[in-house]
Amino acid sequence: MSRLLILASKLGYQTRSFAEAARGLGVDVVFASDRCHQLEDPWSDGAIALHFDRPEDAARRIVSQSLVRPVDGLVALGDRATTTAAYAARALGLAHNHPEAVENCRSKLRQREILRDAGVPVPGFFSFRLDKRLERILPRVQFPSVVKPLRLAGSQGVIRANNPEEFRAAVERIRRLLESPEIQVTHEAELDRLLVERYISGSEIAVEGLLTRGKLRVLAIFDKPDPLEGPYFEESIYVTPSRLPEEMQERIAECATATVRALGLEHGPVHAEFRVNEQGPWVLEAAPRPIGGLCSRALRFGPKRILLEELLVRHALRMEGSDLDRVDDASGVMMIPVPASGVLEGLEGEELARATPGIDDVQITARLHDFIAAWPEGSSYLGFIFARGASPAEVESALRLAHGHLKFEIVPRLPVEHPVTRKLPGAGIAS
Ligand SMILES: Nc1ncnc2c1ncn2[C@@H]1O[C@H](COP(=O)(O)OP(=O)(O)O)[C@@H](O)[C@H]1O
Ligand SMILES: [Mg+2]
Repeated sequence: MSRLLILASKLGYQTRSFAEAARGLGVDVVFASDRCHQLEDPWSDGAIALHFDRPEDAARRIVSQSLVRPVDGLVALGDRATTTAAYAARALGLAHNHPEAVENCRSKLRQREILRDAGVPVPGFFSFRLDKRLERILPRVQFPSVVKPLRLAGSQGVIRANNPEEFRAAVERIRRLLESPEIQVTHEAELDRLLVERYISGSEIAVEGLLTRGKLRVLAIFDKPDPLEGPYFEESIYVTPSRLPEEMQERIAECATATVRALGLEHGPVHAEFRVNEQGPWVLEAAPRPIGGLCSRALRFGPKRILLEELLVRHALRMEGSDLDRVDDASGVMMIPVPASGVLEGLEGEELARATPGIDDVQITARLHDFIAAWPEGSSYLGFIFARGASPAEVESALRLAHGHLKFEIVPRLPVEHPVTRKLPGAGIAS
């Protein structure tokens, strides 16, 4: 029986979905996680507990564990696990990305520098340390601009600024976010710097790709039909196949190939984002991991309509079937945006949403009575809506219709001072 190692920070739906895909193929699964590293066995399932922020040590742990339970392939879910996965794969003799290439992708600044130097179209950019006086920074900023942290994901802390006042406010807001305990516990590097970029206008698309020893296969191009013009950039609708002209889709595929080549990525899943305008495609970013959350459910492959997860498990284990074509009906997903920060106290309309023609499924992932942060401080959605149809336009309107049925009751959190420190809870995070 072959064995798959899944590296993930969270035992979320994505991790479970990969484990299910593997078990469905008769594959044994081992987890490695940096969650609850105090516990020997965080998920009571023999998971290897390690620190993704010390990737070489983490990889050594994986290698020593694999002497007892050998692994035949691995997948990394989420950005944090990717560097450890690269070191571990190299040590285990599995096809892999070079650790340095992966590490370069982890830093938005380093990634920009490499792509710019390789002549791949990226927005103009510079970075600065947060302890620098803004008077010294402002003269260099060209508006409209986008300010962002170097190592967060999911558009968390990404803000558009159209003038110096908005720029100052954006920097302060991101600073507070980066100083919050929620972000500090991640021990990410470069939390003391920000990246400033030119705002690139145009429509946005996402590419899901799969690299096999240096060769990129584009699995899907997703259009993002909602305007993403800021000031914050939470995602919403993804629809595939793309409605862009065939010629532009080819240019995007070429640009994706140039991007992974410049970054030195060679093997495994790639998720990349682009903007497209009259000048052609621009790279926003590329990461050596699959699309996050439940979005992969929008993709099916081959006559048995297998999930992306199964395709990637097959690829990681060098099983046949990882070359299956995408089923070519139109499909899409809506990441349900968070209208305002607060405590989710109620939800209505789920049944109506689910009964909307064209809707496959509605998954509410936010928990009742939990606080949920809106963007730019937030990073998780209220849930996901899935649709399928004869055309991308039909899928898009089904998603909008279903979303229109959902009524979330979100109550602002009352500020309560801590009795000792007299600080407000989550004071680092605006609510
Ligand atoms: N230079 C830019 N021009 C226009 N939009 C941008 C730019 N940078 C980021 N964005 C918007 O913000 C989103 C998130 O930015 P990104 O750099 O991809 O960070 P993250 O890793 O958090 O997703 C993008 O998907 C895009 O909509
Ligand atoms: Mg992004």
